[in-house]
Amino acid sequence: MGFFRELGDRVAGAPSILAADFANLAEEVRRAEAGGAELVHFDVMDNHFVPNLTVGPAVAASLVRATDLPVDAHLQVMRPDSLIPAFIEAGVTSISVQPEVTMHLHRTIAAIQAAGCEAGCALNPATPPEVLEWVLPHLDYVLVMSVNPGFGGQAFIPEMADKVRRLRKMTDLPIQVDGGISAETAPLMVEAGARVLVAGSAVYRGDPAIEMREIIEAGKRAL
Ligand code: DX5
Ligand code: ZN
Repeated sequence: MGFFRELGDRVAGAPSILAADFANLAEEVRRAEAGGAELVHFDVMDNHFVPNLTVGPAVAASLVRATDLPVDAHLQVMRPDSLIPAFIEAGVTSISVQPEVTMHLHRTIAAIQAAGCEAGCALNPATPPEVLEWVLPHLDYVLVMSVNPGFGGQAFIPEMADKVRRLRKMTDLPIQVDGGISAETAPLMVEAGARVLVAGSAVYRGDPAIEMREIIEAGKRAL
């Protein structure tokens, strides 16, 4: 089983640690958990696929030990295949890769799942959902990026709600949304069919427990 396979038709919140204080990650996750977060969104960036650089498997392993929440690795890197074994070893429970840079997507998904992890694909704003057509039956979730990957705090791209709507017609898989998600934008995405709300700056700009709860509640009201 796993977080995404067991989600059902519920709205769940996932804090993106990109906006957290990296010197206090465990505490930052606990604060969001107090506001109802059910999953930790762990952004991995390599300064090649995106212009930013974040954290890798060693930090993921420490965080996995420090939290009871499942940790979801979002790999925004050029060569995900060579990093996947180390993230599996670190104990993350799900991994998403970007199809724009994953040469043998079907094989990569199988490798993630063979290790007992759930596998997802993350779509850049310019990437059509149809690229996933032939792997949808093998996936555990789809992530729709509602900003261009690389940085927190960017403006939400509203047309991404239409992409979620189109994906919803293609599949029953859980749809996660990431980028510019707040209590204002979450309802649009839930109404379109998203169920997992990733939020970074909107959670950590204030009290993470209060902000996370507001985002989840706003999403739930749109169900
Ligand atoms: C962007 C990351 C996001 C980011 C979202 O590349 O994938 O997870 O943290 O940040 P906000 O919620 O601030 O848009
Ligand atoms: Zn992300």
